Amino acid sequence: MPRSTRAQFPDAFRWGVSTSALQIEGATDVDGRRPSVWDTFAAEPGRIRNGDTPAVACDHFHHLDEDLDLVKALGVDAYRFSVSWPRIMPTGTGAVNEAGLAFYDRLVDGLLERGVEPWLTLYHWDLPQPLEDAGGWPRRETALAFADFADVVSRRLGDRVKRWITHNEPWCSTIKGYYEGEFAPGKRDLAAAMQATHHVLLSHGLALPVLRSNVADAQCGIALSLHPIHTASDSEADRLAAIRHDGLRNRWFLNPLHGRGYPEDVLRELGAAAPDIVEGDLAIIAGKTDFLGINYYFREIIADDPKGGPMRSRVVETTASDVTGFGWEVYPEGLTELLLRVTRDYHPAPIAITENGATYPDEMTADGRVHDDRRAIYIHRHIDALRAAMDGGVDLAGYFVWSLLDNFEWAEGYSKRFGLVHVDFATQARTMKDSGRWFATFLKG
Ligand code: FCB
Repeated sequence: MPRSTRAQFPDAFRWGVSTSALQIEGATDVDGRRPSVWDTFAAEPGRIRNGDTPAVACDHFHHLDEDLDLVKALGVDAYRFSVSWPRIMPTGTGAVNEAGLAFYDRLVDGLLERGVEPWLTLYHWDLPQPLEDAGGWPRRETALAFADFADVVSRRLGDRVKRWITHNEPWCSTIKGYYEGEFAPGKRDLAAAMQATHHVLLSHGLALPVLRSNVADAQCGIALSLHPIHTASDSEADRLAAIRHDGLRNRWFLNPLHGRGYPEDVLRELGAAAPDIVEGDLAIIAGKTDFLGINYYFREIIADDPKGGPMRSRVVETTASDVTGFGWEVYPEGLTELLLRVTRDYHPAPIAITENGATYPDEMTADGRVHDDRRAIYIHRHIDALRAAMDGGVDLAGYFVWSLLDNFEWAEGYSKRFGLVHVDFATQARTMKDSGRWFATFLKG
């Protein structure tokens, strides 16, 4: 049984919940917002389960106060949210939409009034469609546009927001978006995807000095999705495949952010698909950060596979019995392992777990409650894993549960619920799940 308590963590440790704009806001054509790549992608038949779209989502745009009251009711220290680029700069560059900024003013003020610290993510995958039409992340100008967007947002909110996350999970927005085609914009071009990874990282580096000049005492970081990589067998072939796979999954992002450039072994595998890098880019990407965000969900078990994509590797399906509604293995010890590894190999800035959570097929019972004990246990076991990592010397700054609300889970639409709070998508009624009640109790100590 999980046993950690809040009292075992330092006072400065931040407990929070996480969301993203596209997944909850809805109101996609209200007050001057224009389409993002995800609105376009969702409109294409067959892209999203059940043909779901983010047009309404949790209608958070119109339920702001109610949702902030839920954040407060949980008793968290911090709330991680993202701002919608196409709500603030509808065509991606140039004109700024005052009504869009005003929404985030209200959000930030509402958090501060409730004693909750805002953690702002600039980019959680909702690229303005006109920027995609011009070439998207494979095009260098998109990185420059991102720095301008960071400037607009930080000028407006930097007096009140001190925690800034440039990007959420660059691996997903680039590899899944431009190579695997499962996420917007749904392309399948390895070279374009790798060029996109470079421009996303470049845009992170370009934004850092902008944030620092606009925000007094800014704390800046990036949120990476990282995975412990294990081998399917003792064979030499599987062992080498796991190293290659780790290269693209983890080291491709960690190395340049920590001043080491891109990993040589991955560059070799990529061959002609390796990105073009302009002199000076790597120094920009390695700009100093104040924390490293890590999103942790599962480990990957890897086998050698000559046809298995750019790293000639294959993720072996888990045989574990304890899996979430996504089929992801519940593997809290992987979080400890990952944190120890990143600390050992990179000596990073303090680490914040910017996402961790689970989807289960929740149901509301006749008593009007959602008895999602499995989610509470999942979270508690991962908090135990954090404790173990701290005992091993890892410098941890916080832990954010994904997610506050059930929401639009990307290609899975509304079929996967991750919330501590249940959302009835027909009525927009919110109900605190048992896991949310448990988390509030845990935080009370
Ligand atoms: C992460 C995403 C987040 C959410 C969770 C389940 O990869 O950052 O938006 O979809 O997975």
